[in-house]
Amino acid sequence: MKTIGVLTSGGDAPGMNAAIRAVVRCGIYNGLTVKGIKRGYQGLIDDEIEDMTLSSVGDIIQRGGTILRTARSAEFKTKEGRAKAAEVLKKHGIEGLVIIGGDGSFRGAQLLSNEHGVNTIGIPGTIDNDIPCTDYTIGFDTACNTAIDAINKIRDTATSHERANIIEVMGRNAGYIALYAGLAGGAEIIIIPEVKFDIDEVCDKISYGIKRGKLHHIIVLAEGVMSGLELSKMIQERLPKLDLRHTTLGHIQRGGAPSVMDRIIASQMGSRAVELLLENKSQRIISIRNNQIVDDDIDTALAMRKEFNFKLYELSKILSI
Ligand code: F6P
Repeated sequence: MKTIGVLTSGGDAPGMNAAIRAVVRCGIYNGLTVKGIKRGYQGLIDDEIEDMTLSSVGDIIQRGGTILRTARSAEFKTKEGRAKAAEVLKKHGIEGLVIIGGDGSFRGAQLLSNEHGVNTIGIPGTIDNDIPCTDYTIGFDTACNTAIDAINKIRDTATSHERANIIEVMGRNAGYIALYAGLAGGAEIIIIPEVKFDIDEVCDKISYGIKRGKLHHIIVLAEGVMSGLELSKMIQERLPKLDLRHTTLGHIQRGGAPSVMDRIIASQMGSRAVELLLENKSQRIISIRNNQIVDDDIDTALAMRKEFNFKLYELSKILSI
């Protein structure tokens, strides 16, 4: 293996740049030529490829987003699209590819390997933390920190006005951001897709909190359950006198300087990806489990079931009585 490529795919996540930097610097350290592929798989098909040097990844460890840009490519989902991508890889002499993204991106990598013999290694990068094989994905910790920063601010104004506030967070179909940010932000109520939603329970808890003299109610809602507006309407139907507001945090959760944890795991995962390519490994996904960097075959990795931390959820209920 002499030349490797790196790309970011799917939604961006803080820490992706730290992972790109690690791939480039560890690759060069090991005598490899490293090429950066712009705009994910679409950029690969369109031959948007540039040589990466030590300095092309300077000054990026602290930056959110991805310097390589990202995209969701419909063309790469077709056999013809992947054949075009393989031709481009061949033209540039790229024998190994590091894909920083989510499970859809890894499935694409697997097809590319099977159909065209390219070695592929996946690094989990998404704020949603919804990749089953890994305890944490790159970007999740930063997104949670951004969310608690917003919760803290909303709490100040909620307390001043003695209001209830719904804060809708991202996570796609998973409730990890809501659970972690809700617990760390001291939310009274956390609503996540993993736990059956009960509007009466929500309203009873708010009523009970008002009776016991609570000055505010912070309700953290995962977008996978419903929107903040929908929940707001449901609550106001039952508690018309409640002074209630809702905020959708949206893409603010996807940006910003990555946290220490995201920078560290991204650096470790990027380095491991290069090691695996040098060992001529392919179709592996890198994870962090029990604080160890590990790697698994893509099928095994994506078939794993991540146990949702219901204990943490129960704890959040106890701590917010
Ligand atoms: O997967 C990351 C994520 O931010 C989800 O939490 C969210 O549902 C989705 O991407 C938003 O996607 P887009 O940026 O395409 O609107």
